Amino acid sequence: MSLDITPFQARRQRLLATLQASGGGVAILPTAPERLRNRDAHYGYRFDSYFYYLTGFREPEAVLVLVAGDTPRSLLFCRNKDVEREIWDGFRFGPEAARDSFGFDEAYAIGELDDQLARLLADQPAIFHSVGYEPDWDSRIAAALNRVRAQARSGARAPEQIRDIRSLIDEMRLVKDDAELALMRRAADISGAAHRRAMRTARPGTREYEVEAELLHEFRRGGSQAPAYTSIVASGANACVLHYVENDRVMQNGELLLIDAGCELDGYASDITRSFPVNGRFSGPQKAAYELVLAAQAAAIAEIRPGASWNAGHDAAVRVLAQGFIDLGLLAGSLDGVLETGSYRQFYMHRTGHWLGLDVHDAGDYKLAGEWRPLVAGNVLTVEPGCYIRPADGVPEAFWNIGIRIEDDALVTPDGCEILTTAAPKSVADIEALMADR
Ligand code: GLY
Ligand code: MN
Ligand code: MN
Repeated sequence: MSLDITPFQARRQRLLATLQASGGGVAILPTAPERLRNRDAHYGYRFDSYFYYLTGFREPEAVLVLVAGDTPRSLLFCRNKDVEREIWDGFRFGPEAARDSFGFDEAYAIGELDDQLARLLADQPAIFHSVGYEPDWDSRIAAALNRVRAQARSGARAPEQIRDIRSLIDEMRLVKDDAELALMRRAADISGAAHRRAMRTARPGTREYEVEAELLHEFRRGGSQAPAYTSIVASGANACVLHYVENDRVMQNGELLLIDAGCELDGYASDITRSFPVNGRFSGPQKAAYELVLAAQAAAIAEIRPGASWNAGHDAAVRVLAQGFIDLGLLAGSLDGVLETGSYRQFYMHRTGHWLGLDVHDAGDYKLAGEWRPLVAGNVLTVEPGCYIRPADGVPEAFWNIGIRIEDDALVTPDGCEILTTAAPKSVADIEALMADR
């Protein structure tokens, strides 16, 4: 792996400056623990997103310590080199090589962390960490504080403030830098190719998991390390179950298939949903519902630009969907009435998007001082309206069990937005053409 460390160094410098500007102190950022799945089998390892954002370092058992002050410093604590363990588990950097390869000022063995913290925290005004996120770290930091307090007779003062670091990093993570965008574009392209492969594979009589296997194949083939979340491959009535993940049903002729699947590439998520007919041709009611969701998505995308409210896209999508539900005979009443009572929620019950980045539901507040925040260039968000029509009294039978979501990933640009996920076909004509070509 050849890694350009400059973006990670730049982020550490920016965070150190922010820490200094907010009074100074020491930040402690551990990576994620390894987690046992059952007996000797572990879950695939995934580093902590905050830690990775600031380090680029992928090994478990590592902690970043940032010391703000006149000479700001970045310290890494990591596993020692261990020739014996490396025979079993593979390469580990060890502190010295990690320091040089990743540009830290200092690096130490992870076993030294507690002793070093007692030294690093002395006479500092504040500790910054993810307060309450991992109970083990809360108590480890409390213990470090107590060790400083125990040195009081030699004149050391313990930090008086324990502050949450997450909102400071979240504000940085909300605006993607060039290195992040390059990865997110590639992740989006790989996922787009996976959705095309799924469209070529699906046909009546195949199982949902056969299509899921094609998605996973394309993710991995493209260099992705893992799916960014569990893939949803939902045919027929399953498409109306928002978090359906069993993916084991036989798809039937005449049904729609909803696929919500995206890969993670070098830590960065993509998140795409496409809905298409298993047999390659939309029926009349399917097409009507599909064009409605597509129009709602277009309306939401048209709202995305710097300065626009986070919620403008959702409001626009809801308006289009609500009018469409009336026009299709799914709801009675006026548009204002449907919006006011919220009766549209029978068919559209989730929000229209979320931030996207290292986490599929990425870090960052959606409101500032109680108001939806304005978008800024560099934000990346999903746009994912849908409609889910369960059988019910008063719902025309022709629409029963139609579940549709169309989800793309959008980058806010200086004068509007750029859709990152255009590799996955979306119009009725493009989907039908690709599927006719199977
Ligand atoms: N795939 C998760 C989501 O769409 O929010
Ligand atoms: Mn999403
Ligand atoms: Mn999704």
